[in-house]
Amino acid sequence: MKLGLIISSLFYFMTLMLIQNEGCNGCVENERMGLLEIKKYIVSQVEYYNKELSSWVDDRDHSNCCSWKRVKCSNFSSGHITKLSIQGLLFATPHPNMLNISLFRPFEELRLLDLSLNGFRGWIGNKGFPRLKKLETLDLTNNNLKGSILSSLNGLTALKTLKLSYNSIYNNYPTQGFPRLKKLETLDLSWNGIESSILPSLNGLAALKTLNLSYNSMRNFSPQGMFVFYNLFTTLSVDGNFVCLVVVLMSYITHGFNVYFQNCTD
Ligand SMILES: *[C@@H]1O[C@H](CO)[C@@H](O)[C@H](O)[C@H]1NC(C)=O
Ligand SMILES: *[C@@H]1O[C@H](CO)[C@@H](O)[C@H](O)[C@H]1NC(C)=O
Ligand SMILES: *[C@@H]1O[C@H](CO)[C@@H](O)[C@H](O)[C@H]1NC(C)=O
Repeated sequence: MKLGLIISSLFYFMTLMLIQNEGCNGCVENERMGLLEIKKYIVSQVEYYNKELSSWVDDRDHSNCCSWKRVKCSNFSSGHITKLSIQGLLFATPHPNMLNISLFRPFEELRLLDLSLNGFRGWIGNKGFPRLKKLETLDLTNNNLKGSILSSLNGLTALKTLKLSYNSIYNNYPTQGFPRLKKLETLDLSWNGIESSILPSLNGLAALKTLNLSYNSMRNFSPQGMFVFYNLFTTLSVDGNFVCLVVVLMSYITHGFNVYFQNCTD
């Protein structure tokens, strides 16, 4: 009897959650407005993407923004958007391509943000990023970002995965490192022209497990720089660098890491 009651109330609860999630009001109003703001900006830059974002419509009664293309809400976030992708939508922007990150201020429950393939040179409105307190994955692959932007990512304290391959991060590494990215587990910095002098900046990343430094220009190490390899990460990728043999040997000797390497140009 008692079990039956528990099961039926559980069922009732789950049904309620499903209804809530799929109802017309399944998305949070200020986030819906935020998406429309982003669409307005994208279309003002490249009219063509009006079509790609045709599901993003301003119709309060009939449109649940959780079902819009490139948008996902989690079942348990009561309509808050948790995943958002504007991959490739601003690549053809005619002006110096600076992203206005204030556009992302409303999305405080966001876990994943995909900004890849846009040719961004940097951003304005720096107040946007620190508000994304729950962001776990930020994909900035294939932009035009310089080393000087890295320190502005420090406010993303929940970040676990940061993808920065195919950018222009070859100097101006943050001297303070990333003291607040205590949860960062995966960092992809491949294809950037990065030199060994970046290594001291990576020292503070205590949770790092996978570091990809493949296809960069690392030639020599200072003992201080080498320190990053004694940290806790378990996968290190340094193929396509002049130093890869040395690093692979060092890592293997010290920790027996799972080390990926190929095309060693040493
Ligand atoms: C969310 O609900 C859908 C169906 O309503 C289900 O397919 C999906 O697996 C659920 N996701 C999670 C993370 O529970
Ligand atoms: C950046 O976006 C915010 C929010 O939409 C807006 O208020 C602000 O005017 C924008 N700044 C620029 C320089 O476009
Ligand atoms: C490192 O990056 C290269 C090139 O982007 C990729 O092919 C490789 O799979 C990555 N390795 C790991 C371990 O993620």
